[in-house]
This record gives sequence, C-alpha cells and structure tokens, in this order.
Amino acid sequence: MTDRLEVSFAGVKLRNPIILGSATPSRDGEASKKGGLAGAGAIIPKTITTPALLSQHPRCGRLHFVRHGRRRPFGMVNTELYSTMPLEEWLDRELAIAAEGGAKVIASIVAEGAPEETVALAKRVEATGLVDMFELNVSCPVSDAHVGQNMVEQNIEIVVTQTRAVKEATSLPVGVKMTPNVSDMVPIAQAAKDAGADFLTISNSVKSLAGVDIETGKPYLPAYGGYTGPAIKPIIQRFVSEVARAVDIPISAVGGVRSWEDIVEYIMLGATTVQTVTAVMWDGYEVLDKLVSGLSQFMERKGYNSIEDFRGITLPHITTIQEYAACPPKHVILEQEKCDDCGLCLKVCFYDALYTDRQGHLNTRPENCDGCGLCVETCPRQALSLK
Ligand SMILES: Cc1cc2nc3c(=O)[nH]c(=O)nc-3n(C[C@H](O)[C@H](O)[C@H](O)COP(=O)(O)O)c2cc1C
Repeated sequence: MTDRLEVSFAGVKLRNPIILGSATPSRDGEASKKGGLAGAGAIIPKTITTPALLSQHPRCGRLHFVRHGRRRPFGMVNTELYSTMPLEEWLDRELAIAAEGGAKVIASIVAEGAPEETVALAKRVEATGLVDMFELNVSCPVSDAHVGQNMVEQNIEIVVTQTRAVKEATSLPVGVKMTPNVSDMVPIAQAAKDAGADFLTISNSVKSLAGVDIETGKPYLPAYGGYTGPAIKPIIQRFVSEVARAVDIPISAVGGVRSWEDIVEYIMLGATTVQTVTAVMWDGYEVLDKLVSGLSQFMERKGYNSIEDFRGITLPHITTIQEYAACPPKHVILEQEKCDDCGLCLKVCFYDALYTDRQGHLNTRPENCDGCGLCVETCPRQALSLK
C-alpha cells in the first residue's frame, strides 16, 4: 500500500478508496474487522436498524446464484434484510471490534421510518465516537417500505426528509445510498445534495426475482430480492456517470466490482471511492488485498500519483446516441494469420459480411458490413476488428 492510494472522501481521509460495502461480510464486528485487516480503506457494517424495525430475514435460503446452465455465476439475488443484531450490541461491542481492523467505519443506518427515529439512531451511533461517517440506507429493495420506490417523486421526498433530519442532528459527514430502481437518478441525487448530503453511494441492489425451478414450477426465492454482482455493473455505471456529470458531489460507486480493473473503471467514471460486496461473498476477504495491490500497481504503471489524476477522465467521452450515430461508419477487417476458421463469427453476422471462400477460409465483404461489431466481440482470437 502506498500514499498514492490515499483519498479524501467527503472530508475523511481513507488509506485507499476501496470499501467493504454493507452486507453479510460485515454482519458484525468481527466480520467487519476482517475487511479492515484485509486492506479495505473503509468498512460499512451491515445496516443498523431501529428497535422498531428490527426484523428477521428468511433463514430457509435467501441467496440464489444466477448463471447460464452450470456455468460460473454472473449475478446473485438475495432476500436479506437489515442487521438482525440489536442496536445495543452494535453500540456496546460490535462497532468497537469493527474499528480494530484499521479501516475507517462508515455506519449504515436504516432511514425508512419516521425521520425522528433515524435521527435518534444516528445520535446514539455518533455518541460511540467509533464511526467516521454515516450512510443512510433509504433504498433496500427487499424491504416492504420501498414498494413504491420506483416513483422518482416519492424517492426524492424520502431522501430529502431523511437527509435533512440527520444532517441537522449530527456533525459527521452524511451520505445517501441511492436506489437503482428508478428511471432517472439525477433529480434524486440533486435533491440529496441540496438537502445537505456530503456524498452519494450509487447504488443499492437491483430489485429482481431469482428465477423459476422448472421441475417444480416454484420460484427459487419466493419474495422479490436484490440483484448484485458482475451482471449489474453496466446498470450502475450508467447511473454513476450520469450523476457524476450532473451533480457535483463525491460518489461511492458499488455494483459488480470483482477486479481492480472494475475499480479503475468506476474512478474513471467519476467515483471517489468504490465498494464491493458480492466479490467478497464469492471469493473471500482476501479479494480486498488483491484489489488494493492491483489498483496500486496500475497507478504506478500509469504514473498516477493520486486517483484525482484519472478520476472522471471517461466522462467527456460519453456522448448522445445522435452524435454517436453520426460518426463515420467502420467496416470489418480480417487478419487472416490470426484466424483459425472456427466459424463462430459466421453464425453471428446478420449482414452477410463474412463468408467461407472456396479454399475453406474465412473472408469478408466489407461493403455488406453494417459496423455492428458483434463478430469482433465473438472472435476468440482477436482476428476481426472494425476500421
Ligand atoms: C446478501 C446481501 C446483503 C446486503 N445487505 C445490505 C444491507 O444490509 N445494507 C445495504 O445498504 N446494502 C446491502 N446490500 C447491498 C450491497 O451493499 C451492495 O449495494 C450490492 O450488493 C451491490 O454491490 P456488489 O455487486 O458488489 O455486491 C446487500 C447485498 C447482499 C448481496
């Protein structure tokens, strides 16, 4: 770990921008501590609830892998609610243990009841002196409180009232964990900033159904859950980039991070910190150390002395579909020496721009090519490109 990884996030100095997000791997003090010991810059213990909201989550299976056939999973659906540990235990013991890992502690608190309840919770957590920031969880897709949260207006109201109340009552930086279950996040992000939010976490998991067991006709998980892991990265990257371009507020990106390259992508899209959860659930805490060293080596190789050297550099290159459609067309080019005539590209060309010649070798008809790039993506030998 080197100083080049150090970041100032909403005024709090983190040893690196990689955060263990709020979920099962931070379910209590000992678990959270492991995240710190594995190298995370900050850890977010599982969302702490008010006594009134403390609820049981399903204990008859609540995690389901999403995959094609028997292949490696590309996503996961969970029906897990908030921490089932009573507030007193977090206050008396668990937060202190969490802090022992050497990472900053960001307290995720539930913010779905009456704002006074959220404030009372925040005050008690702040009084421990053990946490550095708050993350308001207004966005759990599993909770019944969010049945109507796809309505932007309704979401703005929750975000504004909860953020204002907690900001007025505490002195720590306050972030809002956004929902991705909306058509447009920008107005909600702007409203959160105007209400005093110091940062935004983008985002919580994508509301989903885990799938159907076709032998029994029953759903794998009989309640709607949250979709996480690599499959959601493009969805969350859209939101991170849209908010980063429109609202001037630090962003903690979370969704599908499994490699250091994912972290670099999110920083290039404007994030200041990046959280990960499913990767730790699939690969163990040691993935955090790999993420930290991978990011450090990348920055060294590129000569970046701080993440500010490359934060947001992708944003000016994101354009409108109209401008993109006006770019000069490209056509398929074949590098014959790389091609082994496997024929995979022939199946995916819908424009008759590829064919097998009399000698049995792949050849191109660039004049037919529509420049879609599907053959380029399909070729396992990088023999095709668009020029
Ligand atoms: C099993 C599980 C439990 C979760 N519990 C919480 C939670 O208590 N509070 C919260 O804010 N987010 C919770 N999340 C959402 C994660 O913090 C994160 O937003 C989401 O998993 C996307 O990141 P990922 O793709 O890296 O997993 C949970 C996610 C999972 C998989």
